[in-house]
Amino acid sequence: MGLSKDDVIRIVGPALRGIYRCTQVCYRDEPPGAERRSVQVRFGSDASAEEMVTQLQQQVDTDGDDVLVHEVGTFSRLPVDTATGRVAGKVAVVTGAAQGFGLEIAQHLVAEGAYVVLVDINEAGAVEAAAEICGRHGAGRALGLPIDVTDADSIEAAILEVVKAFGGLDLFVSNAGVIKAESVKTQALKDFEFVTAVNYTGYFQCVQAVASILARQHQTDPTYTSDIIQINSKSGLQGSNRNGAYAGSKFGGVGLTQSFAMELIEDGIKVNAICPGNFFDGPLWSNPENGLFVQYLRTAKIPGAKTIEDVKHAYEAKVPMGRGCTTADVMKAIYYLVEQQYETGQALPVTGGQVMLN
Ligand SMILES: NC(=O)c1ccc[n+]([C@@H]2O[C@H](COP(=O)([O-])OP(=O)(O)OC[C@H]3O[C@@H](n4cnc5c(N)ncnc54)[C@H](O)[C@@H]3O)[C@@H](O)[C@H]2O)c1
Repeated sequence: MGLSKDDVIRIVGPALRGIYRCTQVCYRDEPPGAERRSVQVRFGSDASAEEMVTQLQQQVDTDGDDVLVHEVGTFSRLPVDTATGRVAGKVAVVTGAAQGFGLEIAQHLVAEGAYVVLVDINEAGAVEAAAEICGRHGAGRALGLPIDVTDADSIEAAILEVVKAFGGLDLFVSNAGVIKAESVKTQALKDFEFVTAVNYTGYFQCVQAVASILARQHQTDPTYTSDIIQINSKSGLQGSNRNGAYAGSKFGGVGLTQSFAMELIEDGIKVNAICPGNFFDGPLWSNPENGLFVQYLRTAKIPGAKTIEDVKHAYEAKVPMGRGCTTADVMKAIYYLVEQQYETGQALPVTGGQVMLN
């Protein structure tokens, strides 16, 4: 049986990005415009992915504009991007980007010249954030899409949309994460499994969906490298009292990162994790209704604390540098990992000295 139309799009888009050595290849389900320089490609009904790539390499004119694939549609090379910055012209996908670290990471990446796809289970939040970014940085710089990182079909659907819009991607930031802190003596199995499904299995499933796209880009341009970065946690390096589900899922993320790094380097994919300290200014901690500061005040987790400020100071005092982690701190680690061509499989702490590597 031949490949489906979506399968062919997932092969041709990334292959063309490598062949053209360009940022954006956009797919549409219609013939090319008359004014465009186009080449027509007809794949055999039983052609394998490898045969399709070989055929593209033989037939595609690297000076041309469009490739019309019979019964699939048109793949158009878009004009060279003029944005500047540390990630200029790269396509980045950030999960859990409707708020918190993910949203701010997406905003920073666009400001440094990237195209960003914000994906989140909170579809409205992702779409709204993308629209706001486009308003500030220009139409087409950001796209907001729904994703549930615990659901393989949802991940596949989102990544297919990314391939249709851009041909592929260069940086995947696995940021979506949840926390349910409770004692092992009382935590319900369903809560443990919920945290594991998002933080651990979700990371695995996302890498599974993007690895073949990133590999295809490398196949047609062996000089090309790409990045997967997991936003892990200091709790992925050191246990967290009454928070075993979270710490276990994050320790597991480090194991996946090391293992994926070993395997995927043959495809030019670097895989690293960043382990931030507590992001006190983000909604997880500071939401006035259900943030961790309010919860810890209500449950008297910090003895003697009478206000939210007391709770916050108690947590800040645990950090040698005396403050929480910010997205700006995390961005320095992201740029380091993207720019560093001689490192993979690392779990990089950004904790103000709170967690130190052995
Ligand atoms: N906040 C911190 O102090 C802190 C510290 C270290 C690491 N981290 C890590 O950083 C990442 C982001 O944390 P945050 O504080 O910004 O969290 P947050 O709760 O503010 O945002 C998380 C986002 O993930 C989305 N999300 C949740 N489940 C999802 C799913 N199944 N599929 C897709 N999206 C989903 C949510 O809708 C939300 O927009 C997490 O992986 C977290 O473990 C956070």
